[in-house]
Amino acid sequence: MDTVLSGIRSTGHLHLGNYFGALRNFVRIQDSYRCFFFIADLHSLTTHPHPSDFHAGVKTILAEYLAAGLDPEKSAIYIQSDVPEISELYVLLNMLAYVGELERTVTFKEKVRQNPNNVNAGLLTYPVLMASDILVHRAQWVPVGKDQEQHLELARVFARRFNNMYGAEVFPEPRNMTFPGGAVKVPGLDGTGKMGKSNGNGIYLYDDEKTITKKVMKAVTDSGPTEPDSPMPEVIENLFTLLKLVSTPDTVEYFTGKWNDCSIRYGDLKKQLAKDICNVTLPIKERIDAIYNDDAYLSKVVASGRERARASAAATLAEVRKAVGFKPF
Ligand code: TYM
Repeated sequence: MDTVLSGIRSTGHLHLGNYFGALRNFVRIQDSYRCFFFIADLHSLTTHPHPSDFHAGVKTILAEYLAAGLDPEKSAIYIQSDVPEISELYVLLNMLAYVGELERTVTFKEKVRQNPNNVNAGLLTYPVLMASDILVHRAQWVPVGKDQEQHLELARVFARRFNNMYGAEVFPEPRNMTFPGGAVKVPGLDGTGKMGKSNGNGIYLYDDEKTITKKVMKAVTDSGPTEPDSPMPEVIENLFTLLKLVSTPDTVEYFTGKWNDCSIRYGDLKKQLAKDICNVTLPIKERIDAIYNDDAYLSKVVASGRERARASAAATLAEVRKAVGFKPF
C-alpha cells in the first residue's frame, strides 16, 4: 500500500475552501492508502506565535480536521513536534541543502518581502523541514496546491541527493497526488479571488448559522443582468460556484434560469446559498464543539498517532543513520 502524507498548518480555522479543496479527498482516500496527517506546529514557529496561543492553535485545527472526517482508526494523525525523528532528519538534510537553492524559493522571497525584520534561518530552511516531514515516512504521495509545488520539488531533490551521496536507495521521490476533477478553486465572498486569501471573505466550518447567513447576505454582487443570457461578472459567478458545491443540480439550474431571463433576485439566491452551506457545515460544527471539549478523546488520538508515526519514522532513521555512517560503540 502506498503512503500519502499531508501537513496541516497549525494556525487559523478550516474554511469551505480547505474542505472542498483537499480535505474531502483526504477523507475518501483513508481506506486505500497508508495515510499520515500531521499538524505542522514546528513550522509555525517561524512567525513566533505567543506561547499562550500556541497550543490552542494546534488543538483547534486538530478538532476541526477530526470533525471533518479524518479518522484516527484508519490514519495516523499526529503532531509534528511529537515525532523527534523529523527534527533529526531535518538536521541531516540541512547538510545537503544549499543556501542558494533555498534562497531562490518563491515562498522564501515572498516572506522576506512581507517581513524584512524576521528573516530567520528557520524560514530559509522551511522546505528542508517539509522534506523531512515527507521523507521520514518515505511517502510516495503528497497532495499539495500550486504554491507548495516548489517545496515538493525540493523534497525530491533532497531525496535524490541523499540517495546518491550515500549510495543507498533510502528515499523514494515523493510526487504530487492529484484527485479526480482536479483541485476545486473555492472563491471567497468579497469577489477578490480564492477563499481564505483575505480576511473576512471566508465561511469557516465552525461558523454558526447566524454568522454564515450574515456573511453570505453581505457577499459582493452587482446591479443585476440587463440583457438575457449575458455573461456573468466574476462576483456573480463566484456565488454560482459556491452554489454548485453545496446545492442540488435542480437549485443551480433554477437560479441559472433566473439569471438568464434577468429575473434573478440576489436576496433569494443568497438565502438559498446560506441554507445549503449550513446543511454542509453545521453537522461538522456540532462535531467540532464536541471534539474540542473532549480532552480525553483528543489525548487518545494524539497518543495513537504519535505511536504510529514514531514507529514509521524510527524505521526510516535506522536506515538513514546506517547510510550516513553512524555506528554504535
Ligand atoms: P497548505 O496550508 O497549503 O495546505 C495544507 C494541506 O492541504 C493540502 N492541500 C492541497 N491538496 C491538494 N490540492 C490542493 N490544491 C491543496 N491545497 C492544500 C496539502 O496536502 C497540504 O498538506 N507548507 C505546507 C504545510 C506542510 C506540508 C508538509 C505539506 C508542512 N510540511 C509536508 C505537505 C507535506 C502548507 O503550507 O500547506
